[in-house]
Amino acid sequence: MEPGGFDVSLLEILRAGEDRFLSGEEIARQAGISRAAIWKRVEDLRAQGYAIEARPHQGYRLISAPDIPYPEEIQAGLAAVRFGRPALHFSSTGSTNDTCRRLGAEGWPEGTTVVAETQTEGRGRLGRAWLSAPGGLWFSFITRPNLALADLGPLTMTAAAALRRAVEETTGIQPLIKWPNDLVVSGRKLAGILAEANGERGRAEFVVIGLGLNVNQDLATFPPEVRRRAVTLRSLLGRETGRLPILRSFLLSFECLYDAGLRDGFRATLADASEHSATLGRKVCISCGGGIISGDAWRLDTDGALILRTTNGQVAMHAGEIEEACLD
Ligand code: BTN
Repeated sequence: MEPGGFDVSLLEILRAGEDRFLSGEEIARQAGISRAAIWKRVEDLRAQGYAIEARPHQGYRLISAPDIPYPEEIQAGLAAVRFGRPALHFSSTGSTNDTCRRLGAEGWPEGTTVVAETQTEGRGRLGRAWLSAPGGLWFSFITRPNLALADLGPLTMTAAAALRRAVEETTGIQPLIKWPNDLVVSGRKLAGILAEANGERGRAEFVVIGLGLNVNQDLATFPPEVRRRAVTLRSLLGRETGRLPILRSFLLSFECLYDAGLRDGFRATLADASEHSATLGRKVCISCGGGIISGDAWRLDTDGALILRTTNGQVAMHAGEIEEACLD
C-alpha cells in the first residue's frame, strides 16, 4: 500500500498560525492556491485526523493534530538530526522491516524510518509471527554503521536501551530489558526488537532495526496465550497514551547512544542495558541451536553477548531464548 500523503504546506501554514485564525485570503496567498481549493484541502486534513476550526469572516485555525506517526508529525519537534528523516507512514503494510529493507537496498539514507498502523505479516525473532493490531507502535529504520557483520550485537542492545529510556521518559513506566532485547514489565512482554542485516564479504551494507511496542491495544483483544505473557502501556497506565512522543524520544535517544557507541564501543549502551536488565543476577536456562545451557546470568559483554557462569566455566551467549520455566 502507498504511504499516506496530504497537503503539508497548508498544515505548516496553519501550525505557524498557532492559535490565531488565518483568513482564506492569507492562506491562499501563502500556499499559492485558490481560496476555493483551501476548503477541499482542509477536508483532506480533517479526514487524516486533524481538528481544524473554520469560522465565517475569520478563516481557519488548527485545533489539534492526531496521534498518528505521519512524517510531518514525527518531525514536528523532533530533536534527532538523522533518525526519523525521512519518514514514511503506512496505514497497513506487510512488515515495516521488509519495507525498510527494500528502501535500504535502493540506497535510502541512514535514519529512514517506516511506521505502520498495522502489519499483515509482522515478524518476530526466531521466525515467529508478530501480532500488529492498530494501537501499537510498529516501526523500522535503516542504520549504516560500517561495521563487520560479526560486530552488530550492540546495535539491537542500543535500540532496546533507547526504547526503554523513551518509555520511561514519556510515561514514567520503567521497563526492564530481558536478554537479548525484549522490554518487560513484571516479566510480561511490552516490546520486541528484530534486527536484520544486509551485507557482503563480512561487512554490513545496512542494518534494519524493527521495533514493536504495545501501546494502546486492549489486552482483552489478544489471543489468550499471548495475553498471559504480554502487557500494553494502556493496561499499565489505565488510559491511552501518545505514540508520537515515545517515537520522537526513541529516535533522539537512539541517535545519541548510537553515535556515541560508534565512537567509544557502545559503553553507554552497555551501562544502560546492564543497569536495567531483567536477566542479570538470575539463574537462567537458554535454548540455543537445539540445546539448553543453564547458568547464572553474570554480565553483558560489549558485543551484546550474555556471559553465563556455568558449572563448566564461563559461556558467552550470542543468541538464544530464555526458557521461562527455568527462571528463578
Ligand atoms: C520479537 O520480540 O520477536 C521481535 C518483534 C519485532 C516486531 C517489530 S514490529 C515492526 C517490525 N516489523 C516487523 O515485521 N517486525 C518488527
